[in-house]
Amino acid sequence: MGIIVQEQAGLFHLQSSGMSYILQIVDGHPVHVYWGSRLKHREPMSDLLISTPKKAGIDRLPQEYPQYGSGDFRNPAYQVELEDGTRITELKYEGYRMTKGKPALAGLPAVYTEDETEADTLELDLTDAYSGLKVVLSYSIFADRDVIIRSARLRNEGGTKLRLRRALSASVDFPGKRDFEITYLSGAWAREGNITRKALHQGETRIDSKRGMSSHQFNPFAALVTPETTEHHGEAFGFSLVYSGGFEADAEVDSFGSTRFSIGINSFDFAWLLSPGESFQTPETVMVYSGQGLGDMSRTYHRLYRTRLCRGEYRDKERPVLVNNWEATYFDFNADKLVSIAEEGAKLGIELFVLDDGWFGKRDSDNSSLGDWYEDRRKLPGGLQDVAERINQLGLEFGLWVEPEMISPDSMLYREHPDWCLHVPGRRRSEARWQLVLDYTRKEVRDYIYDSLSTIFSSVPVSYVKWDMNRCLTEIGSADLPPERQSETAHRYVLGLYELLERITTAFPHILFESCSSGGGRFDPGMLYYMPQTWTSDNTDAVERLKIQYGTSLVYPVSAIGAHVSAVPNHQVGRITPLDFRGDVAMSGNFGYELDLTKFSEEDKETVKRQIVTYKEIRGLVQRGDLYRLKSPFEGNESAWMFVSENKEEALVYYFQVMAVPNAPQRFLRLAGLHPELAYEIQSGYSGEQSIYGGDRLMQLGLTLPYEQKDHESGWFRVRAISPDKA
Ligand code: DGJ
Repeated sequence: MGIIVQEQAGLFHLQSSGMSYILQIVDGHPVHVYWGSRLKHREPMSDLLISTPKKAGIDRLPQEYPQYGSGDFRNPAYQVELEDGTRITELKYEGYRMTKGKPALAGLPAVYTEDETEADTLELDLTDAYSGLKVVLSYSIFADRDVIIRSARLRNEGGTKLRLRRALSASVDFPGKRDFEITYLSGAWAREGNITRKALHQGETRIDSKRGMSSHQFNPFAALVTPETTEHHGEAFGFSLVYSGGFEADAEVDSFGSTRFSIGINSFDFAWLLSPGESFQTPETVMVYSGQGLGDMSRTYHRLYRTRLCRGEYRDKERPVLVNNWEATYFDFNADKLVSIAEEGAKLGIELFVLDDGWFGKRDSDNSSLGDWYEDRRKLPGGLQDVAERINQLGLEFGLWVEPEMISPDSMLYREHPDWCLHVPGRRRSEARWQLVLDYTRKEVRDYIYDSLSTIFSSVPVSYVKWDMNRCLTEIGSADLPPERQSETAHRYVLGLYELLERITTAFPHILFESCSSGGGRFDPGMLYYMPQTWTSDNTDAVERLKIQYGTSLVYPVSAIGAHVSAVPNHQVGRITPLDFRGDVAMSGNFGYELDLTKFSEEDKETVKRQIVTYKEIRGLVQRGDLYRLKSPFEGNESAWMFVSENKEEALVYYFQVMAVPNAPQRFLRLAGLHPELAYEIQSGYSGEQSIYGGDRLMQLGLTLPYEQKDHESGWFRVRAISPDKA
C-alpha cells in the first residue's frame, strides 16, 4: 500500500486497501491509466500501458491536468493568459516528490491526518518553459480508506505577470468507452438534497454555482456510476470539493465515449493575477472509490469528514439536544418569553437553548440592523448576559444566532461605512432580504466582525453559535481591489471568510459552531472544516425532511445534519404529521426542537420527554455509527435507514411510510451492515416485543413490519448482538 513508483516507465501506482489509482508520464504529460478497485502491483505493468494511436495526438490521451490550445479540444483543467495576450501553455513533467502524511493547504480547509502513517502524498512538478508557469499536482492517498485527495498549485516562476483564467482542482479522464451515469444533489431553498441521476451521452453535463456560495441549487459533489450501480452494489466514483464558494463540476463525454470529469472553483467570471514569484493554491477535491455501491461510497465520506475534516472539541463529542426559538417566536420575543421556553425545556430534558435572529440592533423584522451586533435592550432589558445567565440557571446551555457576513442598509454600520459591502461603483446594489454582503476581502471589515463577535463571546456564556448567511453574492466587486484584480473578489471573499472562521473558532474552542445558509445553501466540506455541523434546511416538515436528510447523507455524515421537530401545521408546507413521526425523523440527525414548548399539551410533553430520553441513549450510535440507507424516499412511499456500530454489535433501524396503503402486502424490511454470523436481539418500537434473529436472516429476509392503517407511520427497532449460539 502507499505509492509505488517505477521511475523508468514513469509510472506511479497509488494504492489503498481497496483501491488503485495509476498514472504514467507519456511524452511529458501525466496520463491517467486506471482508477478503480485495487490492483496487485506488477512489474512492469505492460498490460496497463497506453494504447492511444500516436497520430491522434493529445485529444485522445487520458490526462491528469489537461491544457488548452495545443490539440486537446475537451475542457482544460487550467488556462493562463500571458502578458503578451497569448493563452497557450504547454506543461511538461519535470519530476516528483513523495512525503508521508498529507500537507495542509495555505488558507484553505483541508482533510488532515493525525498520524503521518495514515497517508502518503505524491507531488508532480510540471512546467511551461516559455512562460515560467509551474504547476504542482498533489495526490494524497490514505492507507485504510479508498480516498484520493487532489489539488493543484500554480506558481509564476517567470519574469512577467500571468493571469489565471481557469484553475481547477482535478481532472480525471476515464480511458475507453464507459457508459457512465452521473448522480448529484440538486434543489432550491427549502428543497435541498434532491438526488438526481442521469445517463451521460456525448457532450457535456455541468453543474455549478455562480452565486459566490456553494448553493442550495447544486452541492459541490457528483459521482459517476455505472447503470448497474445501486445503493449496495456496483461502482461509484465520488468527487467532493472542499470549498464554499462558486464551483463547477463537468462531465464531458467525447466522440469516442471517454469521459473527462473535472471539478474546481467556477471559472466563470474568475481570473487571478500571478505576479512573478506568486502562487495560487486550488481547493482540494476528495475522490472516493467504491465497488460496493453508493452506500459504501457515502460511508467512506462520512468517516473521513467526521474524523479527518471536522475539527475541534466537538468533533467526537455527542451533540446536545436543543430548542431554538426561531419558529417559536420569529422576531417577536422578549427575555421573559425566551426564559419561559427554556423553563419548559429544562423540565423536558433539553440541554441547550438557542436564541435565533432578532436579538440585536432594532431588528423587529428582517429589514434592518445586520452589522450592529449590540443587544436590543427593548427586548432584552438586562442584555444578553442576563438572559444567558437565567437560562444557565435553569440548567441549559446558551446558544446564539449571528449573521456576520451581512450588512443591512438600515444599520449604524452601513451609515458609517457604506463602502464596506461588495459593490460596483456607480451601479445599483441589489438587495436580497433587505441586506447586502460585507466585503470580506477587506481586513478591516473582518477585524470589525471579529471584534464585535469576540466581545460578545467573551462576556456572555455562549456555548453554541449558529452562523447564518442568508443571501447570494451580487455585484461582486471590492472597493479595495485594483481594476486588474476585480475578478478575484469572489474567491478572495471565501478566503477572507476562512481566515475569519479560523481566527474565531481558534479563539473560542469551547463553542460548538453550526453553519447555516438559509438552511442548506452552504452545506459543504469547506464549512465543515470550521464548523462540525450545519442546519440542513429551513424546511422542517417531517415528510419533506425524509428526502432532504436522505439526500444530504449521500456525502455528509449524520453528525453534521441538524434536524428539528417543529410545530404543526408545518410553517413551510402546512402539513400536519404526528409528533412521533416528527420525532423519529429528527432523531435521525442532530436532534432538537424548534417550536414554542410552552404550547404543548400534557400528552405531548410526555411524548417529548420520552423522545429526549431515547435520543440521549441512541445519539452516540446515530451521530457516530455507520449509516445504511435501506429504502429511498425518492423511490416511493417508504423510507428506511439504520445506524450500525463499528463492531456491528449494535444497530438502530428507522422505518417511515408516508401514506397508508389499503389492503397492503406483507412488509419485510431487509437490514444491512450486520454480521451474518451473529444473533441479534430485536426490540420493536411498534409493539415493545423482543425477538431474536440471526444477522443473515435479518439481511436476507428482513424484519417483518406490522400491518398499520395510518398515514405518517414511523417505527424503530433496536438491534443488539447476543452470543452466536442463541441464533
Ligand atoms: C435562516 C435560517 O435558516 C433560519 O433557521 C433562521 O435562523 C433565519 N435565517 C433567521 O433569520
